[in-house]
Amino acid sequence: MKASVDYNTIMWLLLVGFLLIHHDHLCSAADPTDGFTQVLLAQDNFKLQKPYNVPLQERYSYKDGARSFWVYDKDKPFKPDSTTRPRTEVRITGHDYSSGIWQFEGYAFVPKGTSGVTIVQIHGAAEGATSLQLRIYNGDMRYYKYNLVATNLYDKWFRVNIIHNVGKGKITVFIDGVKKFVVKDQGPGDLYFKCGVYAAPANSSNYMESRWKGIKLYKK
Ligand SMILES: *[C@@H]1O[C@H](CO)[C@@H](O)[C@H](O)[C@H]1NC(C)=O
Repeated sequence: MKASVDYNTIMWLLLVGFLLIHHDHLCSAADPTDGFTQVLLAQDNFKLQKPYNVPLQERYSYKDGARSFWVYDKDKPFKPDSTTRPRTEVRITGHDYSSGIWQFEGYAFVPKGTSGVTIVQIHGAAEGATSLQLRIYNGDMRYYKYNLVATNLYDKWFRVNIIHNVGKGKITVFIDGVKKFVVKDQGPGDLYFKCGVYAAPANSSNYMESRWKGIKLYKK
């Protein structure tokens, strides 16, 4: 009797131990990057755009692996003949795509007060300029000025993963590894990812800033 109790106790402890050790593995959902291959980015794959009349270092810094982008509502566009809103952005270059399944990944930080601004986008579409804009309005992330994607993002780092399946015409957005938003794209075109700050058509704060680190590109 005593021996069988001890046996059960030992088996129970072994089971608890196994579950504790494998807890993370058993409970974690699939990662957005599962099944993707990283496309290595070099410095010249990061092309910067900023108001044409100010030096880069007055709108951008790159320290300890984090890129900071900022812009003012009344800043000039990125080139003199453009009628677009002001921006300080990095355009991923050298890997424009028009088919396949691509993924952007980065960790973003938006300081409180920054509002009315696109922080990451897919440029290009069959019609129109963009396939996706993720904007911050009052600390929340929206699809353009429409659907709510995520809330309460001010003053913290959050992980952004965007999967663009061109063949299926589908874009999926993950925040902190959680699928938050799925939308139809705008048809194939010369497609590429951008991040930073690009003032929205309206409702922009005077000062807009986002910081990015760990920017990665993947494909399947
Ligand atoms: C933009 O501002 C207008 C006018 O104040 C307001 O009605 C609208 O809800 C704002 N839009 C967003 C996305 O915050």
